[in-house]
This record gives sequence, structure tokens and C-alpha cells, in this order.
Amino acid sequence: TQTHTGLIGLGTMGAALALNIAEKGFPIAVWNRTGSVTQAFYDGAGELAARITPADTLETLVQAIVPPRAIILMVPAGQAVDDQLASLTALLGPEDLVIDAGNANFRDTDRRDAEELPFRFMGIGVSGGEEGARNGPAIMAGGSQAAWSQMQDLLQAIAARAEDGTPCADHMGPSGAGHFVKTVHNGIEYADMQMISEVYGMMRDGLAMEAPDIAPVFARWNEGVLQSYLIEISGKVAAATDPLDGGPMLDMIVDAAGQKGTGRWTAVEAQHLAAPVPVIEAAVMARNVSARRDERVAGEARFGQAGGPVDVSLDDLEAAMIAGKILCYAQGFSMMTSAARDFDWALDLPAIARVWRAGCIIRSSMLNDMAQALAEDPARNLILAPFFAGLLEGSLPALRRVVAAGALQGLPLPALSAGLAWFDLMRQARGTANMIQGQRDFFGAHGFGRLDGKDLRHGPWGNGA
Ligand code: 6PG
Repeated sequence: TQTHTGLIGLGTMGAALALNIAEKGFPIAVWNRTGSVTQAFYDGAGELAARITPADTLETLVQAIVPPRAIILMVPAGQAVDDQLASLTALLGPEDLVIDAGNANFRDTDRRDAEELPFRFMGIGVSGGEEGARNGPAIMAGGSQAAWSQMQDLLQAIAARAEDGTPCADHMGPSGAGHFVKTVHNGIEYADMQMISEVYGMMRDGLAMEAPDIAPVFARWNEGVLQSYLIEISGKVAAATDPLDGGPMLDMIVDAAGQKGTGRWTAVEAQHLAAPVPVIEAAVMARNVSARRDERVAGEARFGQAGGPVDVSLDDLEAAMIAGKILCYAQGFSMMTSAARDFDWALDLPAIARVWRAGCIIRSSMLNDMAQALAEDPARNLILAPFFAGLLEGSLPALRRVVAAGALQGLPLPALSAGLAWFDLMRQARGTANMIQGQRDFFGAHGFGRLDGKDLRHGPWGNGA
């Protein structure tokens, strides 16, 4: 069969993506560095094998593809991508297009795009894990308009579809823009996961609930405003039984979370952009602390175990999650506004929210409402959109009760409390940075502005006490 498409890297994600592509009617040639992997993939492809051409060398892969060629890379982010691009330079020409579909740092994608590669290059963020890659991921594409036009049909065919039928694959902007949006997605993913684990902690350590009793709470929340993939799977995680000892699986899992770095990149980039994303930063911080298990054990030995009855209801916890989620996404979207300005990208926030509605890890029904609110006015902070301002007004009292109860009992709620602190800053017209400006002028003569606009830029320091 004649194919215009190739795929390199048949690991879990690459294999699933290749099957998805073949299933949607696009013949595809595939190659993996370890030949036996290619053969095993082909042998296991069933009737889809008819649309798959396995190649045993990179040369035969390229020969198997008819120009204009598009070759998708699904290799580990970082050096492996650079190595693969280098090995393709002798084989491909200016008409050919190489697409990095891994979790690349967008700065690498920018750099590769700017390098003198003898072929065209684009970077796409693909979300949804193995299941998504196989049956419909969300796709955030970055690259030239021509590259997007060439790939649009295929990418939209393999992508998930929102309830209204729109494919969850779109062009985010030039070069690194797709991977940037995917990085913000992952930062939000970390934050959503952290907030869920915080309310889980309140149920476990504050309300003395066992995992099997927590599971139906998440399941119920999944029927309401919080409906989302992550709430749904959290219920399933809490419900699962350990096949080895019959107890709750959750209770047996070591409390140290791993990370491959994308969430951290979001926090790092947010700092570069001076964009406040405290919920995401708190989530990254909490993962880092989780990994320091020995220190935490020593901390508890010295200061005692926290916990005990908290004066909050399950409805409070649900409302706190609703508020936290709105605050987190408001920060994430606002960060993208900063990036668009700094990087001179025309990021389309409503389109991003629409792409995230299905297929990706952070998919949720709330993203429908966010897409709508952002379409009304993309420049307005989401907390000021009438729909979300109303939801916040209804849920903030519960967030305050939950954060206060956690603080009083020593139960950590870093992400939820960071969201609340940011909100309280954001609704305070007269802040407290006048003190900081006074201090800066005191020790460094940095000067300040006056509320009355009069022309006295330095303080009379020392004429008081
Ligand atoms: C997705 C995910 C995925 C990511 C994993 C692991 O959108 O499908 O974001 O791309 O690699 O979630 O991330 P961590 O190992 O950093 O938790």
C-alpha cells in the first residue's frame, strides 16, 4: 500500500498511535531501532497490518514512504530526538516533514525548528496516555501553517472528539507553541491530581474514611460539576482491591510520586513569564516533597502525627475542589496570555479549551464552560467571567472552611491553599506592596509612585521614629 506517513519509535505510545492512524484509514510505514520490536508490532496488528509497512532500516522506512513525506517521531524527549533528527538529515529533503510527537520541552522544539535542518519540522503535544493514543488523543500542534495544513486531516481523524463532534486537534501556533500548550496542560494535570489527593487526605486523615468509602464519593462528584477523567479514575483507584493481601490497593502504594518533568517546566516557564501559577507550583512542590520520604518520616517522629477530626462536610470538600479547579485553570490560561505576548504567538485560548475537552488527561465537562467563557472575552481573567465568578462565589466559603480546617489540624493542602491565597490577592484593590516599595526605597532608593500622583518619588526615611 502507498503511504505518505511514517512513524519512528514503537514504544507504548508510538505503537498505539500507529494503530490509531492505520485504523483511521491512513497507510503507515513504521520503524523501531530494535528490529524485533517492529516485527512484534506488525505481527500483533491483526487486520490493521494490511495498512502497515514494517521497515527494518531507516533507509527502507524512508523509501517506503511516497513524497510528500511526513514522519512522526515517538521517541523519548531530549537527546533521543536530536539523535533521530541527525540520522534523518542524510535521508530527507526540503519537501519532507518530521513531526516530534513526544513530550518535548518547547524550547527544544523552538531550537530544532530554528536549526538548519534539511527537512521541515513541527512539534505536536499528544495527550491521553496509551488509551488516548490508541483511540483518540487530544493534539496540540505547533509549526508552520503549511505543516499544519499537510497534517490536519490525519491529526483530526485520529484525535478524540468533543461531545459536539469537533476533533480535539488544533493548530496552536508556530514552532514550540504546541509543546508549550502541552506543557501547560501537564502543569494543570499535576495541579488537578494534587488537589484531588489533598481532598483525599482530608477524607482519610480528617474524616477517618477508608478507601472503599472514599471511592463512591469521587464517583458521585463525577456526576456533577467536577465531572472529569481524573475524578473518575481517582474513584476507581480508591475502589481497587490489592490482589496480594485483599486490602485497599491505595493503602499499599508508596506515597512518593514520580515525575518526568513537564509539570516542573510549567512552573519554571511561569517564573520566566512572571505569570502567577501558584496552584501548579504547589503541585510540583508537593511532588518533590513526596519523594523525600525519609525526611518526612523524621519530621513526623519529631513533631508528631497530624490529623484528627476536621469540621468540614463532604459537600465542603466538593465545593473546595470546584473553587480550586477554577482558580488553577484561571492561572493556567492567564499564563498562556503572558506567553502569547512574550513569544509573539496568537494563542487562541477558547480553541485550547476546546481541544482539552476530550481525549486528554485533564478532560472535563468544566472545560466546555471554560471554552465558552473564554470565547466571550479571551483577555478577561476566567475568575471574572460571569459564569465562573458565580460558581466561585458559591464555592469559596467552603474552600475557606476546608483550608482553615486543614491548617488547624496540620493536614497539608498546599495547592488548595495556594489557590485561595492567589484569589485573595486578586480581589484586593489596595494591596500591601506599598510596604515593599517603601522598603525598597529605604535600602536602595528604588523610588515609588504616589497614589495622589504628586511628584515625590523617595521617602523621608528617618523623619519618623
Ligand atoms: C498526557 C500526560 C503524559 C505524561 C504523563 C506522565 O497528557 O497524556 O501528560 O504525557 O507523560 O502524565 O507525566 P509525569 O511522569 O510527569 O507525571
